[in-house]
Amino acid sequence: MTDQNSAETTDVLVVGSGIAGLASALAAARQGSDVVVATKAKRPEGASSWWAQGGIAVTRDDPEGFTRDILDASDGTADPDAVDVLVENANDAVRDVLVDTLDVSFDENGEDLDFAREAAHSDDRILHVDASTGKHIHVPFLNYLDDNDSVEIRDDTAALELIRHEGRVHGAMLEHDGDVEPVYAGSTILATGGIGDLFPRSTNPANSTGDGVGMAALAGADVEDMEYVQFHPTVYPGEDGNPEDGPFLVSEAVRGEGALLRNGDGERFMPEYHDDAELAPRDVVARAVAAERDATGEVTLDVSPLEFADEFPDLAAKCEDRDIDWEDGIPVGPAEHFLCGGVAVDDRGRTSLDRLYAVGECARTGVHGANRLASTSLLEGLVWGLRAGEDAAGEDPSVIEAPELLERDPELPDDFARQKFHRLRRVMDEYVGLERDPGDLQRALAVLRRLKGEVDAYVRTRTSRSLYELRHASVVALLVTRHALENEESLGTHHLVDDAAEGAPENEPTEPTADD
Ligand code: SIN
Repeated sequence: MTDQNSAETTDVLVVGSGIAGLASALAAARQGSDVVVATKAKRPEGASSWWAQGGIAVTRDDPEGFTRDILDASDGTADPDAVDVLVENANDAVRDVLVDTLDVSFDENGEDLDFAREAAHSDDRILHVDASTGKHIHVPFLNYLDDNDSVEIRDDTAALELIRHEGRVHGAMLEHDGDVEPVYAGSTILATGGIGDLFPRSTNPANSTGDGVGMAALAGADVEDMEYVQFHPTVYPGEDGNPEDGPFLVSEAVRGEGALLRNGDGERFMPEYHDDAELAPRDVVARAVAAERDATGEVTLDVSPLEFADEFPDLAAKCEDRDIDWEDGIPVGPAEHFLCGGVAVDDRGRTSLDRLYAVGECARTGVHGANRLASTSLLEGLVWGLRAGEDAAGEDPSVIEAPELLERDPELPDDFARQKFHRLRRVMDEYVGLERDPGDLQRALAVLRRLKGEVDAYVRTRTSRSLYELRHASVVALLVTRHALENEESLGTHHLVDDAAEGAPENEPTEPTADD
């Protein structure tokens, strides 16, 4: 039984601490609300925003141009009303929070701000700090909120399940150091980031298990556009299992400054794939890189047209750490980068469940449609975070019966979760990646359904963070696969192929086993 008197309550509970979660917390606190931010991150690197390189796009004085670029990059599928919200609020949100409140020193070019360009942008409009913009925003944001008496940030704290009663969300079950307690909230804001852990290679921080989407879907919220998973074309792959040679993103800003993609024969290939060559939409470049790698063995990013070490000192340092001689080109390949879909929300981040909001990568605002334009993710998180936080404030929490999560047995579930995650990633990599064949998607669905059944059986008897992460990841993997099967049109990041037509072997690929 929940003890009504000792139960912990807050006005607003934010789950996640990237730019979207922190912007929500700031906006709610500005309205006079008390806010708890629960984040799995052991700060600061645990949030995706910290890893953002390229920068944050702003509208400058060209709303039409910015709108057109977002719609074009999305293959015409972005929601024009959502795009208007983003474009109309971009300049003010960046000035208010990043410049006036956090005092972020964006790079300058003489007297003026240095606006950069990235793929599929028709103009220079991206504010940046070197090519590590995320951490220059994220760290001051955390520090600023740490000093705010209305906001409590709880690191290393996972949300396992939403507390829901009759279509309304009342907070979440939070786990820290093995202890699980309900936190009741007037409003709950999901800001849990991406789904990188569902794939073997990703630009996301570890533990990006799609918790927000998984919890919201299990609670009955609407989820949309899950088939649109964006792969970044230029990720240095590193060497599997060698911590000295880990993967890293090579920002699109490097191509924006003139770097060229070359195949294993040393030939520049992008002009054959798209008129905008290296600056074509990201999904086009990612598929071209994968095809050339398959055909010629490798793809490298030729940075000789620019002063690489002067223009991108952080990336040059990463190359030096790994003994990569960039004069010979940086080896690159595609890796999972961003979920364009997610929990369906309106222009204030409201989901289909009462008092539940979603912001940032876990939300589907409609801004990205089938493919996201570069450097719009920090902006979307900031704009929707502020709008959701403001809307979420002012609702009193009520204490209801919390879900009963069962006795914890750390060892067995952790081991189980490790094995099953391995299997889930193999299925997603082989069948639900950059190119999708309907037969493969059916196979993936069958494997993932079985996996979710096994996870559900464990969750009925035990509670541990890794088990719940696996549960969320398996729900999200099923949603991605199901939505991919339901959408018969190749658009943006959702690219259908017919393997049989392309002469692929007709043997059924074998289901990966737990030992793989
Ligand atoms: C990059 O720097 O290439 C990533 C930017 C983005 O994903 O928006």
